Amino acid sequence: MQADSLPEALVELLAAARAVAVLTGSGVSAESGIPTFRDALTGHWARFDPYELATPQAFGRDPARVTEWYDQRRLACLQCRPNAGHAALTEIEGHVEGRGGRFLLVTQNVDGLHQRAGSRRIVELHGSLHDWRCSGCAASMTLADEPLSPYPPRCRACGQPVRPGVVWFGEMLPRDAFAAAESMVQQADLLLVVGTSGLVHPAAGLVDLAMDSGCACCQINLEPTPYTSCMRWCLQGAAGTILPSLVRKTWGDSSPA
Ligand code: APR
Repeated sequence: MQADSLPEALVELLAAARAVAVLTGSGVSAESGIPTFRDALTGHWARFDPYELATPQAFGRDPARVTEWYDQRRLACLQCRPNAGHAALTEIEGHVEGRGGRFLLVTQNVDGLHQRAGSRRIVELHGSLHDWRCSGCAASMTLADEPLSPYPPRCRACGQPVRPGVVWFGEMLPRDAFAAAESMVQQADLLLVVGTSGLVHPAAGLVDLAMDSGCACCQINLEPTPYTSCMRWCLQGAAGTILPSLVRKTWGDSSPA
């Protein structure tokens, strides 16, 4: 998308908003080489049965298989690099906070790429592949850039299997993270919804909450979603192209204060 085809009203709002929130999904990491969840050809779920791997019951049944799969994903993420979309979100954070505004990036992703791109104001609704804790005593495990094998890794303190710090189907989202996200979208002037199909609740419900609170919402996504028809703006395309164009059109080539 060319910068000159971006809606003027969106650019003006982003330039002046007192509070900007962003909700991202796996689409923002797709250009870094990390498969999304629901892309038919390459998505994680196409090759694995989520209910075989992404539930507490699956971990209880076969902790070795579950921890190996998550550790392989963790190591694969470490080989990937943040893309221009991640970098643009870091710049938006810098510009908004540089002028005294409030910013919060709410991600459903567990890959850690937003942090590696420099985002600071961030909450991870679905946890992280890079935080592992004991399933028994909850002690956190120090990770290296090498496999955690033999699987499942065992807690040094109590010997129980160590699990990935991601939110599995059927588990509650981290309370503080979700509360921060809810609070932010209720006071934001602008919510950017980037690279998510909007199919998974309660995360997707943040868009409804933002709209009910009078927040202007802009979707940046490769394809339409259930929220497309109710968005103030829909920019269809790759996040790694659209977000940098939006930053350039809003702030030119000036770097954040
Ligand atoms: N730029 C923008 N959008 C993209 C790009 C891209 N380069 N590539 C893919 N997309 C879009 C897809 O069109 C799709 O709508 O990103 C969206 C990804 O949707 P999903 O695969 O459903 O992933 P996500 O929305 O993050 O899933 C939410 O579901 O399974 C759970 O916990 C898992 O956090 C995940 C949650």
